[in-house]
Amino acid sequence: MEALKQKIREEGIVLSDQVLKVDAFLNHQIDPRLMQQVGHEFAQRFQGQGITKIVTIEASGIAPAVMAGLELGVPVIFARKFQSLTLKNDLLISKVFSFTKQTESTIAISAKHLSAADKVLVIDDFLANGHAAKALIDLIQQAGASVAGIGIVIEKSFQDGRALLEREGYRIESLARVASLADGQVTFLE
Ligand code: G4P
Ligand code: NA
Ligand code: NA
Repeated sequence: MEALKQKIREEGIVLSDQVLKVDAFLNHQIDPRLMQQVGHEFAQRFQGQGITKIVTIEASGIAPAVMAGLELGVPVIFARKFQSLTLKNDLLISKVFSFTKQTESTIAISAKHLSAADKVLVIDDFLANGHAAKALIDLIQQAGASVAGIGIVIEKSFQDGRALLEREGYRIESLARVASLADGQVTFLE
């Protein structure tokens, strides 16, 4: 998606060979017009798949997920993160290890928002090692629902997330694929 790549070139900050900071339009300040275009692009790529729900994770997945939900005309559920777990009724829970933060957290969604009849599109802001996506898929499967695909705003293609998810047969659509962050430069695939 050219407008997104352009924004990353102009306003993204390469923090290291591993981390791209996009606080100017996605992770802190949000560019609503760009997010609208992101939502439109996801809807184009996944239309006709019979998607009934979108699932994302707080906080940074919510903006692109809501815009995709608006375009596809389906509800958006965001998984909540917990540092420690107090078991409650009706919660589907999964563990996710963050490579970036070197911490494990528990994520949860209420079982009442997903059923076995749902076809779910997973949306997230970043795909790195794929742990967050895997945990979301786990929650969806616990509900007996099916995964229609995974939509990612920015994929770091030099990390293992895509390979891990493709090995399990999931369709992944990433709107910007970053091949490298070496030498302070963002290089895109294709
Ligand atoms: P993984 O889920 O793909 O395995 O990735 P990882 O554990 O590395 O990601 C942990 C958090 O860091 C996630 O946000 C993820 O979106 C974010 N992240 C990963 N790589 C980058 C990067 O290069 N740049 C930026 N800006 N973020 C990155 P989170 O902890 O869920 O936080 P939130 O922002 O959604 O609240
Ligand atoms: Na994030
Ligand atoms: Na995220």
